[in-house]
Amino acid sequence: MPVFITDEAFGVQNFNRLAFERQAQALLARLPVFLQKSDELSASFALKHEPQLSILLTTDEGITAINGRWFNRPWPTNVISFAQQADDLLAAGPDFVLGDIVISVETAAKEAAQSGVPLNLRMEDLLIHGLAHILGEDHEDEQSAVQMRQRESRLKNLLNGGNNMADLCINVDHIATIRQARGGNEPDPVTAASLVELAGADGIVVHLREDRRHIQDRDVELLRRTVKTRLNLEMAATEEMLSIACEIRPDVVTLVPERRQELTTEGGLDVIAHRDTVKRAVSRLHEAGIPVSLFINPEEEQIRTAANVQADCVEIHTGRYADAPSPSQQDEEFDRILEAVRLAAETGLRVHAGHGLNYRNVTRLAAVSFIDEFSIGHAVIARAALVGLERAVREMLSLVKSGVPL
Ligand code: PXP
Repeated sequence: MPVFITDEAFGVQNFNRLAFERQAQALLARLPVFLQKSDELSASFALKHEPQLSILLTTDEGITAINGRWFNRPWPTNVISFAQQADDLLAAGPDFVLGDIVISVETAAKEAAQSGVPLNLRMEDLLIHGLAHILGEDHEDEQSAVQMRQRESRLKNLLNGGNNMADLCINVDHIATIRQARGGNEPDPVTAASLVELAGADGIVVHLREDRRHIQDRDVELLRRTVKTRLNLEMAATEEMLSIACEIRPDVVTLVPERRQELTTEGGLDVIAHRDTVKRAVSRLHEAGIPVSLFINPEEEQIRTAANVQADCVEIHTGRYADAPSPSQQDEEFDRILEAVRLAAETGLRVHAGHGLNYRNVTRLAAVSFIDEFSIGHAVIARAALVGLERAVREMLSLVKSGVPL
């Protein structure tokens, strides 16, 4: 947990300490997104580390002592913060502490009563004010005060969901894999897709493979008629598949490489090597009014070529990050993805990410701005086998949407 609260101010009326703690945790968990967006700290530093914050909730007497000792102002105030020194920050390990915030809940209660707002709302403002100080703001003169207010309002937006939350699209291929194991008609990926949508997912993904090992043509046809969010059809750029896509008209097509022997899609599409084929496929799908995403490895030249062949979107292959055998290799893969995502977004491409993502490794990516959508299959369907599809989808949604660990 990124926030540590010490409470010396028990019993203040109308203060919901748990709700405050939840807000503080959410704010800290989303902070790397904010830092990255505004480039205020090195993005990869902030994203690789989990910033922590210590909060002391105290009384007027408690804050008077601190105000007197450190600032020679022996009287009560609402909030005081102490930032960790920049040098210490850079020398810090993965769990670096941003600083300490001291809030007098008593003063906050008086201020809330004066302005007629709930105490928790006032506490939230003070938390944000204290955090803005820690991030280097002050209100010593008019110009810096204006800048500080802007920073506070951005932090407030962040807390209240103003960050771009990625969409979560669920791949239901593995429901079809179970069905195909007995060659019957249960479980039906079309029913599963409805349940996934009811649980709140933003879209459905299926891969119609050349060998039809899981998803069948009938599934895609029915899904097109029943999916109410959006349907993403993954397929190889073959003549057969292009005809099917132009007929069915999914909301988006993701072009993937396909080898019959593989267990799952093993690597990204080599857009450079297959530039002409991909370009023709993109333009044919565009003529049918279908946007196209290219599933590629996080590599600069693949991204540039994807933009060059007029793709609308790239899906960054996260498999190497997900399967990294050590934390340091995972860090390297994460950095690669981060750079790729930035470049793709700068190039004007929409950015999806997927493959191998699960309940443990998705949170770090969920905090990366500019990833518009996650495509996740195996982890969710595997969990669904044990806890039910709705719960499995909701749990993944909570990770993808907030970046807050379960
Ligand atoms: N994205 C693409 C292009 C895929 O081929 C797959 C696997 O079918 C996924 C995402 C989902 O991967 P996983 O099942 O490992 O979550």
